[in-house]
Amino acid sequence: MLSEKMQSALNKQIKIEAESSQIYLAMASWSEVKGLEGVSQFMYNQSDEERMHMLKFFKYINERGGHAIVSELSAPAIEFGSIKEMFETLFKHEVFVSQSINELVHIALEEKDYATHNFLQWYVAEQIEEEAQARTILDKINLIGDDKGGLYLFDNDIKNLQVDSSVAPPTA
Ligand code: FEO
Repeated sequence: MLSEKMQSALNKQIKIEAESSQIYLAMASWSEVKGLEGVSQFMYNQSDEERMHMLKFFKYINERGGHAIVSELSAPAIEFGSIKEMFETLFKHEVFVSQSINELVHIALEEKDYATHNFLQWYVAEQIEEEAQARTILDKINLIGDDKGGLYLFDNDIKNLQVDSSVAPPTA
């Protein structure tokens, strides 16, 4: 059985994961409108992944005798400036999510909830991967600079990058 404190913290994370999905969906749309097919595909996939992260929390709360809550979400931005700015926003957002997961791990230990602590390890590993991936992408963007040909190749490459990371997700 989940403690009230643990349940409410996990429900807060459901909202964060759902909002992450919405943010990346907005980024997918922005990129698609700009004709960046690969980037937009990457963002659609990211958005789906966040929904999966959200659902995993959802199922877990209900399995442990709690009640997963669907809450109101904040609307994401519509414009993202440049590709570089957009990926910087994504990176910062993932760092924020990692901090939030760390906070959950902290609460699980405080509550002596070792089942939830164990469940959260999947997210700890996932966040390492998400941050590393965002950093790799930002490095590539910095290398390209203002080179239009480079941007074209990057847009093509990023489709494969997504495939690589989803081939070996951390196991639950
Ligand atoms: Fe669900 Fe990208 O963190």
